[in-house]
Amino acid sequence: MTLQFSLGSSLPDSGPTPCAVVGVFEHGVLTSAAARLDVACGGVVKRMVESGDITGKAGTAVILFAPVDAPAERVVVVGLGAQKGFDAQRYQKVCLEAARAVGRLPVESAVVHLAEIDVPGRDIAWRTRTAALAFDHAAYRYTATFKPKDAKKTPELSAVTITAEAAGERGLVEAAAIATGTRLARELGNLPPNICNPAYLADQAREFADRRVNVECEVLEREEMEKLGFGSLLAVARGSANAPKLIVLQYRGGAEGEKPYAFVGKGITFDTGGISLKPGAGMEEMKFDMCGAAGVLGAFVATVELDLPVNLVCVVPAVENMPDGSAYRPGDVLTSLSGLTIEVLNTDAEGRLILCDALTYTGDRFDPAVIIDAATLTGACVVALGKHATGVMSKHDDLAAEIIAAGEASLDRGWRLPLWDEYQSGLESGFADVANIGGKFGGAITAGCFLARFTEGRRWAHLDIAGTAWDEGRKGLATGRPVPMLVQWLIHRAGQA
Ligand code: BES
Ligand code: MN
Ligand code: ZN
Repeated sequence: MTLQFSLGSSLPDSGPTPCAVVGVFEHGVLTSAAARLDVACGGVVKRMVESGDITGKAGTAVILFAPVDAPAERVVVVGLGAQKGFDAQRYQKVCLEAARAVGRLPVESAVVHLAEIDVPGRDIAWRTRTAALAFDHAAYRYTATFKPKDAKKTPELSAVTITAEAAGERGLVEAAAIATGTRLARELGNLPPNICNPAYLADQAREFADRRVNVECEVLEREEMEKLGFGSLLAVARGSANAPKLIVLQYRGGAEGEKPYAFVGKGITFDTGGISLKPGAGMEEMKFDMCGAAGVLGAFVATVELDLPVNLVCVVPAVENMPDGSAYRPGDVLTSLSGLTIEVLNTDAEGRLILCDALTYTGDRFDPAVIIDAATLTGACVVALGKHATGVMSKHDDLAAEIIAAGEASLDRGWRLPLWDEYQSGLESGFADVANIGGKFGGAITAGCFLARFTEGRRWAHLDIAGTAWDEGRKGLATGRPVPMLVQWLIHRAGQA
């Protein structure tokens, strides 16, 4: 369950709340909400600024208990940094830090007075939406595989009111949908690979479709894929006791007969590397190798929640990559669904092998207006771009530009890498039409180039989310990216913003 979002009126009219959130810039510059709250609290905010208790440094949060007659029991004063240079990233960061501070308090609801702050180039709907999403992001807790706690003693945040004029409402509607999709993506990513296997992903998709009249779900089993000729996907699946599934979701929100958009997500529910086994250290992180699948499922759910007037299909190849007596091996030559043969040089380059068949299937069956795939495809992408930007690859400059713009708009940002033909030579094989790995260099790009061979003539883009789909470290959680980017792109395509 996401937080409940509502739109509220500004201070001091915004009724009593257990917690109000206001911002203060450096050098004692109060936002107008902070100034009004200061008056309502007998000047305590100003005095704390003068004493140096409140510095206004970006992201710092100071919590004070308000006088009994004040419109809030507590006040979280979040530092906004210098007024000069305040931008969208900073706005998101302060919202997140404020949300984390509120999350540590024993309150069930809060009123957030941050959307009134000017952010260059961003309107009130954006400010409202971004604040709501930051609060939901910070409020998410992974609890699925802990021993159930006895009835909770401390209250937890479940509702936030964002103060804004009526035009902020659209932002809250979008936030609710994106939060729902992002939460789903995060939870699927975080679940352990013994639970979240191909069958589990298929069940989740079916359950969602069962609850919606305009959503249909089909799951192709191994036998059907064998008949159709998914030779590449099925080779990856051979080493696992968990049968592969091809999940196909369709949403009809657009005109009958209008070409759908298509999202395809890499659903490797665990990637051991197969016979080209990965090193042990950190291998558990490869449970996140289905975050492309989780991301496109989340974006699909958000699209349905928003009732966007588009037709959308979502295709998820769900497979586990294991070493075994029947596993595929380096040297194997596979015949893909497209007919192209593939020489396997490394069984750890498995993502592209399930995606190529899924992309062929999606193209042939649906003839989509656009296909976008999302995949935790290469470590090389993390080397190239680090953990902040998703790698965006497309031969279509305008499509790449649309996706990058959607990333900027949603602060789920991407950066383009080229798919020039020069890179294709790295994939040459002496034994098949194409090899499944390139040379030492440009690994994110050669992976993209491999996929490009299976999407020729189609309007297609590839998102490498290997760096952005989860946070590093033992307690690192799935981020839910690229749900915001994909949904923002579809909102634009649907002409709703
Ligand atoms: N799932 C991995 C990519 C990955 C690695 C994502 C680390 C995030 C963090 C993918 O299947 C893989 O193993 N790729 C190989 C490709 C190589 C064999 C050409 C890689 O990146 O090392
Ligand atoms: Mn791999
Ligand atoms: Zn993988």
